[in-house]
Order: sequence, then C-alpha cells, then structure tokens
Amino acid sequence: MSNRYVPGATPLYEPEFAADPHAAYARLRARHGAVAPVEVAPGVGAHLVLDYRAAWEILTDQDGHWSKDPRPWEASLPSTPEAHGVLGMIGYRPNALFTDGEVHDRFRQAVSDCFRMIQPHRLRATVTEIADDLVREFAAEGRADLVGQYARPLMARVINRLYGRSDASGRDLDRILTTLSNAVGADAVAANEEFGRYMNELITAKYESPGDDLPSWFIGHPAQLAPEEVVQHVVLTLGAGNEPSANLISNTTARMLTDERYYSSLTDGALSTREALAEVLRTDPSMANYGPYFATRPVHFHGTWIQPAELVLVSYAGAGSDPTGLPAHADERSDGGAHLGFGAGEHRCPAADPALLIAATAIDRLLTLLPGLELAVPFDELTWRPGPFHRALAALPVTFRPVRPDQPGVTPWTNSKPSLSTL
Ligand code: HEM
Repeated sequence: MSNRYVPGATPLYEPEFAADPHAAYARLRARHGAVAPVEVAPGVGAHLVLDYRAAWEILTDQDGHWSKDPRPWEASLPSTPEAHGVLGMIGYRPNALFTDGEVHDRFRQAVSDCFRMIQPHRLRATVTEIADDLVREFAAEGRADLVGQYARPLMARVINRLYGRSDASGRDLDRILTTLSNAVGADAVAANEEFGRYMNELITAKYESPGDDLPSWFIGHPAQLAPEEVVQHVVLTLGAGNEPSANLISNTTARMLTDERYYSSLTDGALSTREALAEVLRTDPSMANYGPYFATRPVHFHGTWIQPAELVLVSYAGAGSDPTGLPAHADERSDGGAHLGFGAGEHRCPAADPALLIAATAIDRLLTLLPGLELAVPFDELTWRPGPFHRALAALPVTFRPVRPDQPGVTPWTNSKPSLSTL
C-alpha cells in the first residue's frame, strides 16, 4: 500500500469521522477485521490497528519486528502540501518517540528521570493556582467554553511553568500547537517556524541560566544530551504533553457531566474523577490513533500483508473499544478494565502519572468551584475537531451558577494560594 491511494480506504481527516469515530471503528472492524486501510491525508494511506491483541503485540514487541523510525516511509510520501502536513506529526526527529533500541534507551532514561523530578504536591499546587486564575476570568458569567477558556490555556500555562517560563508565553504556545496538531498545508509550515523560534529562545535562556525546571534537568542529566538532543526532547514533551492532556481534561469533563454514574451526588456513591479518566483513556483517549509503527520486514499481520515503509497506526481508541479485547471481568470494574490510552511497552507515555495528576486536579477544581455545572448543549451536539490522530472537542460549552468575589464559601478568589516554586 505504501502511500498509494487505496480505493475505498476510509479517510480519517474528514469531519464525518470526527463526529462519530466509534461507528467508523465498528464498521472497519466488521469489514476488515484487526487491520483496516485508512487515509490520514488525501493520498496518504495507513493500516489502522483496531484489535486489542494486535495492538498489544506491536506495542510490546521485543523481537525487533516493529520500528518507530518513520524515515523509510517518509521517502515514499507524495510531495503534496497535505502529505507534508502529516510530517508535522510523524516526521522523523532524533527523540525518544521516533527511535529504537539503544538510542531510544538513552533518550528514554533522560526523559523518565527528569519527569520523576517533578514533585507531585508542587505540581498539584501549581495546577490549582492556574485553574483558579482561569476560573476567576469567567466565574461571574455563569457560562464558559471549557476547551478554549480552561483546558487548553491551563495546559499551556502548566507546561510553561514546568519549563520555568512566564504565563504570558503560554497563550502563544497554545495557538501554535493547535495549528500544528491539525497538520494540514501551509498553516502547519508557518506554525512549525514559529514553534522553532519559541524553542530557540527558551533553550538559549536555559543554557545561559539553568533553573529548577525540566529543560535545565535535561541539560544536566548524566545521559549528556547534546544541545540539539535537549531541544528535541523539550519539543517532544511539549508537543506530546500539551494537546493530549488538554483533550483528556475536556473529554473527561464532558463524560462526567453526561453520565449519571459520575454526576449523581456523592451520597449516591458517584464514581470518582480518577475512574472517569480511566474510562475515557480506554474508550476515548486523546491520542486516539497516534501510535505510528513500521514493520522492519514484510509481515502477514492478522490477515493483512504489511510492507516496510508502510504506515501502521495503532488505534488506542479502537483497541480500547474492541469488544473481544477486554480483559476478563472488565464489566465488573467501574473503569471497565485496562486501557491503552497511554500506550504500552517501551514507548508507553513516560509522563502518565503527572498527566493524570494534572487532569484530575484540573477537573476537581472545576467541580469544586462552579456550582450547578452542566453542559449547555446535549452531549450529541458537541462538535469534535477533525484530525486523523486525536480525539478533541472543538468546544465544551457549559453553564453554572455565577460566582462572585464577595460570595461566601469556597471560590476561586478565596482558595488559591500561590505556589512557592514552579515545580
Ligand atoms: C504532561 C503531559 C505529557 C507528556 C510530557 C508526555 C510525554 C510523552 C513522551 C515524551 C512520549 C514518548 C515516549 C517514548 O516514545 O519513549 C509519550 C508517549 C505517549 N504518550 Fe504521553 N505525554 C503526556 C501526556 C499524555 C496524555 C494525556 C496521553 C493520552 C491521553 C498520552 C499518551 C501517550 C501515548 C499513547 C504515548 C505512546 C506513543 C507511541 O507508542 O507511539 N500522553 N508521551
């Protein structure tokens, strides 16, 4: 298949797919089984892995059958703006995500060690402070869009803090990353350039004056990353962290405000935010289909011939909703059982714990501060941003009882204490 157009391949970049991906996964599974032909951009084909066991096989491969290096595939891409746009997400970069073996081990060690330096209690205080700042901006209105006014700016500001940067630059960053994640045409190219400028400024400042922050820890790590490798990993953690976490927050909040198992009162035994996060990570993970892998030799995989240089996408969302793949007794668990929302195996998300802590704190803050919080439109009328790789709400309109500064009780004006340190 390589990048040839496959007649009948399902386009994942159309609004129809974004409106109801689970219907598409079910149709594809019924027609093709574990592996289905799709297009991630016009003329750019891929094999979508929808079966839990097949996904698990790729993710936990120990025998070198699968690689993360996209360069052979890139060489076969058509030279169209659409194909070029996909490179924003899957183009090779010398970082943990796109490397294998010993090279990956070295990068991965640095990334994992540096994430372990983040103190959970400080991170929680930082998220609380930023959440309260954001809620103050709309609390008196009685309505808000929790994607544009909360989840996205919150993540951009949290990651900026992890990088020892001021809140002001978080707004620019949010805009640039949103454009990049849509990955089409000239907009993506321009956003790439702007992103490069932002990063250069950040890294130069950290080499000149290291601080108690993620980029400085990368610089000082015993893996002795070269400056270019430091840049690559700061970019990776930013790209990999901002968008998926913002979407995890909004997808889970939407679910909690819709599903009565979550919104019924505490005395009714409502399920917790952590359980909602686990459920969303299984059925609606924000990196829905963003598991690019490449066969190292021709392989007949679950009924489909796959050649090296063909893009294989592990669908974390498809695998998580595969009815045959659920572990035994999954229906007896409130979170539905194991999920692949953070991937699995050697490339499993190294920031899963901080990402969960950020998301749970951000959602709990909303539920604490906004009385009577509910969706402003029925769940079915929410709109999702088109894109082959993500599961992302375009907006999350909500209403609540307005909260004002002079109001007694817990409000965003009374409760927030500035954190002592960025981390
Ligand atoms: C602070 C937030 C986050 C950061 C900094 C971060 C960072 C990373 C990094 C550096 C990797 C590459 C690891 C490797 O290849 O060895 C990765 C992988 C991954 N992350 Fe995260 N991540 C964050 C949040 C999330 C969230 C919220 C999700 C999903 C809901 C997620 C899902 C994944 C998945 C599925 C992979 C594996 C990709 C693959 O196998 O190709 N991450 N993440």
